[in-house]
Amino acid sequence: MIIAIDGPSASGKGTLAKKLAEHYQLAYLDTGLLYRKVAFDVIEAGEDPANIEATEKAALGLDMSNVEESRLRTPQIAEAASIVAAEPRVRAAILQFQRNFAKNPRGAVLDGRDIGSFVCPDADIKLFVSASAQVRAKRRFLELVAAGFTGSPEDVLNDIEARDARDRNRQAAPLKQVEDAYLLDTSNLDIETAFRTAVEWIDSK
Ligand code: DC
Repeated sequence: MIIAIDGPSASGKGTLAKKLAEHYQLAYLDTGLLYRKVAFDVIEAGEDPANIEATEKAALGLDMSNVEESRLRTPQIAEAASIVAAEPRVRAAILQFQRNFAKNPRGAVLDGRDIGSFVCPDADIKLFVSASAQVRAKRRFLELVAAGFTGSPEDVLNDIEARDARDRNRQAAPLKQVEDAYLLDTSNLDIETAFRTAVEWIDSK
């Protein structure tokens, strides 16, 4: 079984995806981390995330072993990741990595922006997880503060809106809800309720 989960940042899709993977004993891939790692490697190499040659080179050499996740979860890397993710050559380089992962014989859960639309269009279940920008900004703000962030909630809301706009309006595989995806709006749902709702849909299919 392949479960494809898409949605904007801080919609709750990552937490939901992990819980579903555990529940159904499936492998789990957070595809946003791949773009974050490419952005991280580009910056480490002293290059600009908008430099197409440098980002393609990093994507072709992507190595996800020994990833220190906390270093990829900073606002700076989030911003750079949304820039590299708009580059079709980066997306092409990462596509095979994701499709190979989805071939796992036990099945897999992948979350991202274009899983149901592009990476795994034949997924057994597609979920589009969303929430209002205000709710998502509040969640992300609390996470960042716990990690030592000293900026304001407005900064976080502005970042979220800028990244949403970039993810939705880019030419290459933009974020969108495909027709055969279930829409799960988590604005007023806690994670347990969101999880139980998704399990009901999946089991009924
Ligand atoms: O989910 P995230 O915040 O970790 O994603 C980081 C960036 O990568 C974000 O701007 C969207 C982009 N991304 C993408 O374009 N396609 C995916 N499948 C996953 C993430």
